[in-house]
Amino acid sequence: MNNLYLSSNIYRFFMIVDFRSDTVTQPTPEMLSAMMQAKVGDDVYGEDTTVNRLEQFAASLFGMEAAVFCPSGTMTNQIGIKIHTQPGDEVICESTAHIYQYEGGGIAANSGAQVHLLQGNHGKVTADMVAGAINPVNDVHKALTTLVSIENTANRGGGSCYDLNTLTAIKEVCTAHNIAYHLDGARLFNAIVQTKTTAKDYGQIFDTISICLSKGLGAPVGSLLLGTHQHIAKARRIRKVFGGGMRQAGFLAAAGLYALENNIERLQQDHDHAQSIAATLNELPYIHSYLPVETNIVIARINQQYTAAELVSTLREKGILLNTVGKDAVRFVTHLDVDTRQIDYTIEQLRRL
Ligand SMILES: Cc1ncc(COP(=O)(O)O)c(C=O)c1O
Repeated sequence: MNNLYLSSNIYRFFMIVDFRSDTVTQPTPEMLSAMMQAKVGDDVYGEDTTVNRLEQFAASLFGMEAAVFCPSGTMTNQIGIKIHTQPGDEVICESTAHIYQYEGGGIAANSGAQVHLLQGNHGKVTADMVAGAINPVNDVHKALTTLVSIENTANRGGGSCYDLNTLTAIKEVCTAHNIAYHLDGARLFNAIVQTKTTAKDYGQIFDTISICLSKGLGAPVGSLLLGTHQHIAKARRIRKVFGGGMRQAGFLAAAGLYALENNIERLQQDHDHAQSIAATLNELPYIHSYLPVETNIVIARINQQYTAAELVSTLREKGILLNTVGKDAVRFVTHLDVDTRQIDYTIEQLRRL
């Protein structure tokens, strides 16, 4: 019995490797300590100094005027959509976009708007696609196109990243047609690390940006919507209507500040781990193919030998947790609670199936 075999069997009893999402992370002792020491107040009165500090820090990181702290990325996206649209308007987004697929019909329920879906490439769209989807303003039959929303990284695209030229070209189309431009940046910091861009690059392009602190950055709760003073004043009113006005939220904002100050550069480790998994998939007879891996998400299609649900339950018995993506694909998401030892264990178990 070699050491690897022995250690993998020991791990099986103790180890849970949770690849379901990067939202599952637990706060580290350092983050918890920052939370415990936070100075707080009533944030609905604007009196929580830690929330104020987080909002100012994030706005200046992106070179944008203002930010508002919210409980979730769904809320920051939905507020962004409501700021830019009126009931009956049309929002252009990619067909797999989180705002359309996974926000409970919120575009219709919260804003009374409808969508124009684009079939992109790995979750990404081009300026030409956007230009072709804009309804003519003078045609009374058509809904007014008032918003283009982009997702970067694109979750269902396998964590794919846009290049700045494409984002800028789409911006030019939006400007020419007087259309607002929103970024769902739930995993924008993964894109920033991967493409060696800066937060300010994105701040210059978009009207509003949603960023999540509770994904790869490892905070337990929280997202920020960034924009102009005018947008964010409107956003605060909508946040209240949505029930998202929080009181002593500084305990959560302290975790977010800690995350922004300490956990951005380390995302590269998660990307390296995702690459290690992808390299192993090449060897496995039960894997049909996988989407190009750019950041911390690996989406793999399975051969007919297994269904996605069967593969998920087989790996669960070994302490490895994944989500399915439809009937024939699974998703691994790497994050700061998955270390190299756990990646090695996972690779070994994948090879044994
Ligand atoms: C691309 C994207 N946008 C938005 C969200 C929503 O974030 P939350 O879960 O905080 O509502 C998610 C969540 O996973 C996401 O993947």
